[in-house]
Amino acid sequence: MKILITGGTGYIGSHLAVSLIEAGHEVELLDDLSNSFEDVLGGIRDACGTKPVLHRRNVQDVAQVLRGGGFGAVAHLAALKSVAESMADPLVYYEQNLVGTMSVCRACVECAVPYLLFSSSACVYGDSPHPSEETPPSPCNPYGRSKLYSEGIISDVCRSRGLRAVSLRYFNPSGAHPCGALGERPKKPAANLMPLLCAAARGDATLKVFGKHLPTADGSPVRDYVHVMDIAEGHVAALEWLQGKPPGEFLTLNLGRGEGASVLQLACEMAMVCEREIRVERCGPRPGDAPCCFANVDKARALLGWEAKRTLRDICADAWSVK
Ligand code: WQD
Repeated sequence: MKILITGGTGYIGSHLAVSLIEAGHEVELLDDLSNSFEDVLGGIRDACGTKPVLHRRNVQDVAQVLRGGGFGAVAHLAALKSVAESMADPLVYYEQNLVGTMSVCRACVECAVPYLLFSSSACVYGDSPHPSEETPPSPCNPYGRSKLYSEGIISDVCRSRGLRAVSLRYFNPSGAHPCGALGERPKKPAANLMPLLCAAARGDATLKVFGKHLPTADGSPVRDYVHVMDIAEGHVAALEWLQGKPPGEFLTLNLGRGEGASVLQLACEMAMVCEREIRVERCGPRPGDAPCCFANVDKARALLGWEAKRTLRDICADAWSVK
């Protein structure tokens, strides 16, 4: 099937392109390169032997690409994704993320694209420690709310116009394709843990650990770190599942390992991988941070037969191997 990935040169999008191509799909990318680099296309080629076409456009122009015809599905990943930025400038987040989703939905209907995969986030759950898809969403920042509202828009379009969609709620995507040619390389400075842990492993910085006495085993915060290739393969499985469903189907699914790991645990795994000591500085908790959040992944396992295969060690080893 011919598939368009919006945000296709981003961290998740580029790894998703590899998995979809390896599953036999024809993949094209749409990205405005506002937070990624065009040389990612070469990384995708190095990982799977195929360099996809890039449509360098804003996601609001997605219909101009889909009118080219022949697309069976859209994977909509293009969005702003910083919690802190969204707190500082909520209107920018609502405008970019919601208008982007509406543009994709309208284009799918206009161009008769039957299937949509949507990149959502564990952020929709707020500070629920171990949410399932039945846990009432309670986002506590504009980024999380923009993802929840986008899900509502997609659900309404499915019901009214017969689109079929799965919204995939990522927990903490981490790691990289083992070939080392792809990785997390945003243009904007990274604030999430894995890039900062890798910098500390290289000896470029000290890792600040946000939390000393949290109600967790070692006092540092716990998250569900899931390998980005497991996330990508979850999309492939969701698309296969969707093809057997009637018009109007809308499903939300958690994508995580289903296990929590603390920051200190991850730092220990990375130290084992890189065979170096990692300097850490214990700090107070980051404002707005939940002490613990990891996924209940029973639904993805039951419906898709999908579960994360890669371990924390794999995540650290593949993140460390990025060239
Ligand atoms: C992970 C843990 C920090 C940096 C965010 C978004 C979420 C998703 C993933 C898009 C936290 C701690 C971090 C550091 C630290 N993004 N930490 N020192 O906050 O769980 O989730 O990214 O979908 O929507 O909210 O991820 O990587 O920022 O932090 O101790 O230098 O690492 O406190 O507990 P988070 P993160």
